[in-house]
Amino acid sequence: MLAIRLVCSSETAPIEGITHCGDEFGRVRAVPEWTRLERRTRMPVSFARDIKPMFRQIDIEHMKRFKVLLDDYTYMSDPSNDHSNAQDVEDRLVKKSMPPGGPYWSDQQLAIYRQWSSDGYQP
Ligand code: HEM
Repeated sequence: MLAIRLVCSSETAPIEGITHCGDEFGRVRAVPEWTRLERRTRMPVSFARDIKPMFRQIDIEHMKRFKVLLDDYTYMSDPSNDHSNAQDVEDRLVKKSMPPGGPYWSDQQLAIYRQWSSDGYQP
């Protein structure tokens, strides 16, 4: 099946309920309103609900010794140095240097973690 990647603008078309999106060649296509609604109504990724449960108890316990507080929202969302605590954790996960020997995070888990950052590190 041919997949078309659409880039949508916030402009709405003259017809109610239809949004205009451009495909990769810049051609305008009309897509139903629900695609925009989905984007608008998606709940932001939450630390308590989505991020913390991805760490195992053994990860949390082992990293406490190194003052890396994986289960602590205040630590993980600390904005100092451009959110370096959250960034350093992400770096290890992406480079598969943590947890030592695995199991390494899947692309989907990493995407959720990145979305947590894009959504503004919600609790
Ligand atoms: C800033 C981020 C991190 C730093 C600086 C860090 C550093 C370290 C260091 C120095 C060790 C001990 C030496 C070693 O075995 O390599 C260690 C062990 C460990 N780390 Fe991390 N780590 C980080 C993030 C993580 C994350 C995100 C996880 C899990 C998702 C994790 C899970 C573990 C586990 C389970 C161990 C114990 C391994 C064992 O004793 O067999 N760490 N970490």
